[in-house]
Amino acid sequence: MCGIVGYIGNKPAAPILLDGLEKLEYRGYDSSGIAVINGHDIDVSKAKGRLQVLREKTNNGKDVIGTTGIGHTRWATHGEPSDVNAHPHLSQSGRFAVVHNGIIENYISLREKLIEKGFEFVSETDTEVLAHLFEYYYKGDIMDAMIKVINRVEGSYALGVLCSDYPDSFIAVRKASPLIIGLGNDENFIASDVTAILKHTRNIYYIEDEEIVVLKRDEVKVYNSDREEIKKDVFTVDWDISAAEKGGYEHFMIKEIEEQPKAVRATISPRIKDGKIVLDDVKLTREDIKNINKIYIVACGSAYHVGVVGKYVIEKMCRIPVETQIASEFRYCDPIVTPRDLVIVISQSGETADTLEALKVAKNRGARILSIVNVVGSAIANASDDVIYTWAGPEIAVATTKAYSTQLAVVYMLAIYMAERLGNITGGQYKKYIKDLEALPELIAETIKNKDQLAYLASRFYNCKSIFFIGRNLDYAVSLEGSLKLKEISYIHSEAYAAGELKHGTISLIEDGTLVIALASGNELFDKTVSNIKEVVSRGAVVMSVTTKERSMTGIADHVIHVPVTNDIFLPSLTVVPLQIFSYYVAAEKGCDIDKPRNLAKSVTVE
Ligand code: AGP
Repeated sequence: MCGIVGYIGNKPAAPILLDGLEKLEYRGYDSSGIAVINGHDIDVSKAKGRLQVLREKTNNGKDVIGTTGIGHTRWATHGEPSDVNAHPHLSQSGRFAVVHNGIIENYISLREKLIEKGFEFVSETDTEVLAHLFEYYYKGDIMDAMIKVINRVEGSYALGVLCSDYPDSFIAVRKASPLIIGLGNDENFIASDVTAILKHTRNIYYIEDEEIVVLKRDEVKVYNSDREEIKKDVFTVDWDISAAEKGGYEHFMIKEIEEQPKAVRATISPRIKDGKIVLDDVKLTREDIKNINKIYIVACGSAYHVGVVGKYVIEKMCRIPVETQIASEFRYCDPIVTPRDLVIVISQSGETADTLEALKVAKNRGARILSIVNVVGSAIANASDDVIYTWAGPEIAVATTKAYSTQLAVVYMLAIYMAERLGNITGGQYKKYIKDLEALPELIAETIKNKDQLAYLASRFYNCKSIFFIGRNLDYAVSLEGSLKLKEISYIHSEAYAAGELKHGTISLIEDGTLVIALASGNELFDKTVSNIKEVVSRGAVVMSVTTKERSMTGIADHVIHVPVTNDIFLPSLTVVPLQIFSYYVAAEKGCDIDKPRNLAKSVTVE
């Protein structure tokens, strides 16, 4: 969703801001803008559409003079995508320019009050009230104005604010919306996402809600809302800069698919020591685990689909009831969560608004929160009792692949870890699980090699109007993810169904030539799924089946995709791979914008 970048230093700000905004494009946006202090004036340039339009308008930033500035990519919420609704927004006199991520919930009443006071609004956005509020409260002390503004507004925000009276500094603050501070040599930055500034610095400050940051070229100071200075620790980001570049690949998505073995290895290997799973970041004791009454897994989208896998795996291995819920439902369903429950929160970005709010609901009810997160220091990580980081590195394509795979790896490790502490598995079983877990990256790599077959199948089926995915248990959980992948990047309608449920209604949609992708990898339910495949075949479906190498599907499915053999519980890590690759090639055949699918954003920071 929206992205923020800010710069102060000795170099021209505009090209640096444009370059940073380019790195944030993947988050999804529909307009962009920059504001730069030029002497004692603020020069604002904004444009609807791709960043390229803003580049052209500003001659790649060369026409915008000044070394202090803020930039923004906007994903429209309040008001259509347009030049005027794009950020930065200026206050009435032009003294303040504001970029904002998040939503100001009480903006209507604030707007009315400001109109009464004589302020004129030009945009439909909630953000414009912030610009005018700064001016309204400003009596010569910017810090004082900032404190008054944050006391007055309700909602979520990350803000970068320029004031023309302070050409050698700018100010920033956040609440429930991500913002980091980048510390350079004689230059400093703000960004909603580390990828925007990785090229310039790896040294960052994570800031907490309502901490106010004053940035100068050679100094960054952080204050609380009582104006007391807060000492921050410098955190060094170890993400490889090349991970955020395409590096010769046509799309980030295919690059990230291929990075899965490495990402899964990086997530698993450091946590296996002397043949044992060591989760240093988890403070749950053996006693705590034994006392867990129920586990909730809460997440959105693909992370939710990991949670569906988690339900099957954790229940099977730990015999603790697990309920997996979509975060946007969980937060409003008055959940029966108690202090004896463990809530596992899964999020790549660590900033998904619904997931964060669901976490807070559970926390307020006394539950222990364990999160599985990819972004260090993100809001969800900060709000959790225990965090297990996935070491996927930056994921740029909107459609998640390597983050999903690393989340699965963490879920397996957690399940095995808890099962061992509960005494549910023997020493021999424990050893075998760990051996299989360690072999997983190689098996994923082997599965990825099958790209040609999937490219061919995509060329056969990219014109389908609707595609069904079916499977049972873990195969069903992976079907959900396969179907989402296809929908989000290829815009083909698709449904994922528990194979046994199809005949309770949906089978009426199967007609001659309907493509059904049937996952039949699990041993226990293989025969049952084969029966379901026969049901759809006899109604005219064309079946593409995903199964293990030891299975023959001759005479059952029209096309068979094989994955290596492993323990059933780890199969989702393999069966998801052909589905990701198939979706990728279908979207490529259709000429879709694979890394930035229409209407979608990488991080969904609004409700
Ligand atoms: C998956 O391809 C999607 N882009 C989306 O469903 C995503 O998984 C969801 O929005 C959750 O994001 P998070 O992991 O950053 O919380």
